[in-house]
Amino acid sequence: MPHNIYMSRGPIVQFKLSDIGEGIMEVTVKEWYVKEGDKVSQFDSICEVQSDKASVTITSRYDGVIKKLYYDVDAIALVGKRGRGGDARHGPRRTHPQEIKGHKTQATPASDIKLSEVVGTGKDGRPEPSYLDLIPGDPDSARPRPKHRRQNQVMCVLWSPGFHKAMVKTMTAALKIPHFGYCDEVDLSRLVTLRAELKSMAESRGIKLSYMPFFIKAASIGLLHFPILNASVDEGCQNITYKASHNIGLAMDTIQGLLVPNVKNVQLLSVFDIALELNRLQTLGAAGQLGTNELSGGTFTLSNIGSIGGTYAKPVILPPEVAIGALGKIQVLPRFDAVGQVVRAHIMNVSWSADHRIIDGATMCRFSNLWREYLENPATMVLDLK
Ligand code: COA
Repeated sequence: MPHNIYMSRGPIVQFKLSDIGEGIMEVTVKEWYVKEGDKVSQFDSICEVQSDKASVTITSRYDGVIKKLYYDVDAIALVGKRGRGGDARHGPRRTHPQEIKGHKTQATPASDIKLSEVVGTGKDGRPEPSYLDLIPGDPDSARPRPKHRRQNQVMCVLWSPGFHKAMVKTMTAALKIPHFGYCDEVDLSRLVTLRAELKSMAESRGIKLSYMPFFIKAASIGLLHFPILNASVDEGCQNITYKASHNIGLAMDTIQGLLVPNVKNVQLLSVFDIALELNRLQTLGAAGQLGTNELSGGTFTLSNIGSIGGTYAKPVILPPEVAIGALGKIQVLPRFDAVGQVVRAHIMNVSWSADHRIIDGATMCRFSNLWREYLENPATMVLDLK
């Protein structure tokens, strides 16, 4: 009960919203994980806030008891600001998000927080310097920041707890699957030319056309020939379910962390349809708005880590799926052509992982060959399009 909190001994710490980086100056409070009267320890999740760039879980810097929450869910909080009402010099002011009431006091005079009110929490009851806030825009912010400040920011930028929990669960289940790995290189020179030709046409229709729609479509055509790769298997490996829909997931680096939305029924879609849907998913991902509909029902996954960098990866299967491919960076490299001449080629590596309980190496290799051939000779995809 809040009344009891006021009676407990120890000074009050003003826990202001930290500078979470990337120039973010205000956030919306999305969820409180604590209520007034709750006991919290250092690193416990306090609340989730959302900016236009990131979803961030704010963790406690102190051990103590929550005395008061200053913001309602959906209210806007300004980084490091405190007090109410406007101020010409400091701009509009808001109260700090919360106060934590703790027990021991032994403060270090290193920040603009009234340290006589800060609860000692680190060794010897002192606040850890890396957890002290300097307030952007305040005169005090000219002071040198604590050394560990950046590290602290990085620690704060976490996934949404819901998604993080789901990832822990999925990856733990994936550990039980004996993964078979298979890698190859793909010469995308023709596809690079084709995409360059189609890109401006797609742009005129308002669509960004990357390579991903081709990778996804080629995978779907391959899955028609190797349906075991678009299946799921029960725990005892007694029943295999073949999925009619090719709901191809793509690992997406979003502001909520790594998410895997899927493009549904790829077997019925053109490359352009896939690009359209991919654009939609990326827009949702960038806004932190991917929902259950986009994130559930996947049957096979591709992870284009090459759009960030790197040549090879070791992808982890997303159960109940049985196969996944990771795509490396497309690089311009010398290769021999059919008559032995060295040519400039656009090479991409692909790394497949498959559930070795039901998929053997030969199947994975044959599927990969087919997928590679479609991408190396993209005109042939036209013949097999539905
Ligand atoms: N090699 C070289 N360039 C690549 C590339 C690759 N493998 N993949 C994409 N690109 C290029 C694109 O063609 C585009 O260039 P353009 O502006 O000339 O068209 C640019 O990189 C940006 O592409 P992007 O916006 O990322 O679109 P995409 O459709 O290629 O990829 C996602 C979409 C969602 C897959 C991608 O944005 C992403 O999130 N990748 C990370 C996946 C990840 O984190 N995997 C790890 C899982 S553990």
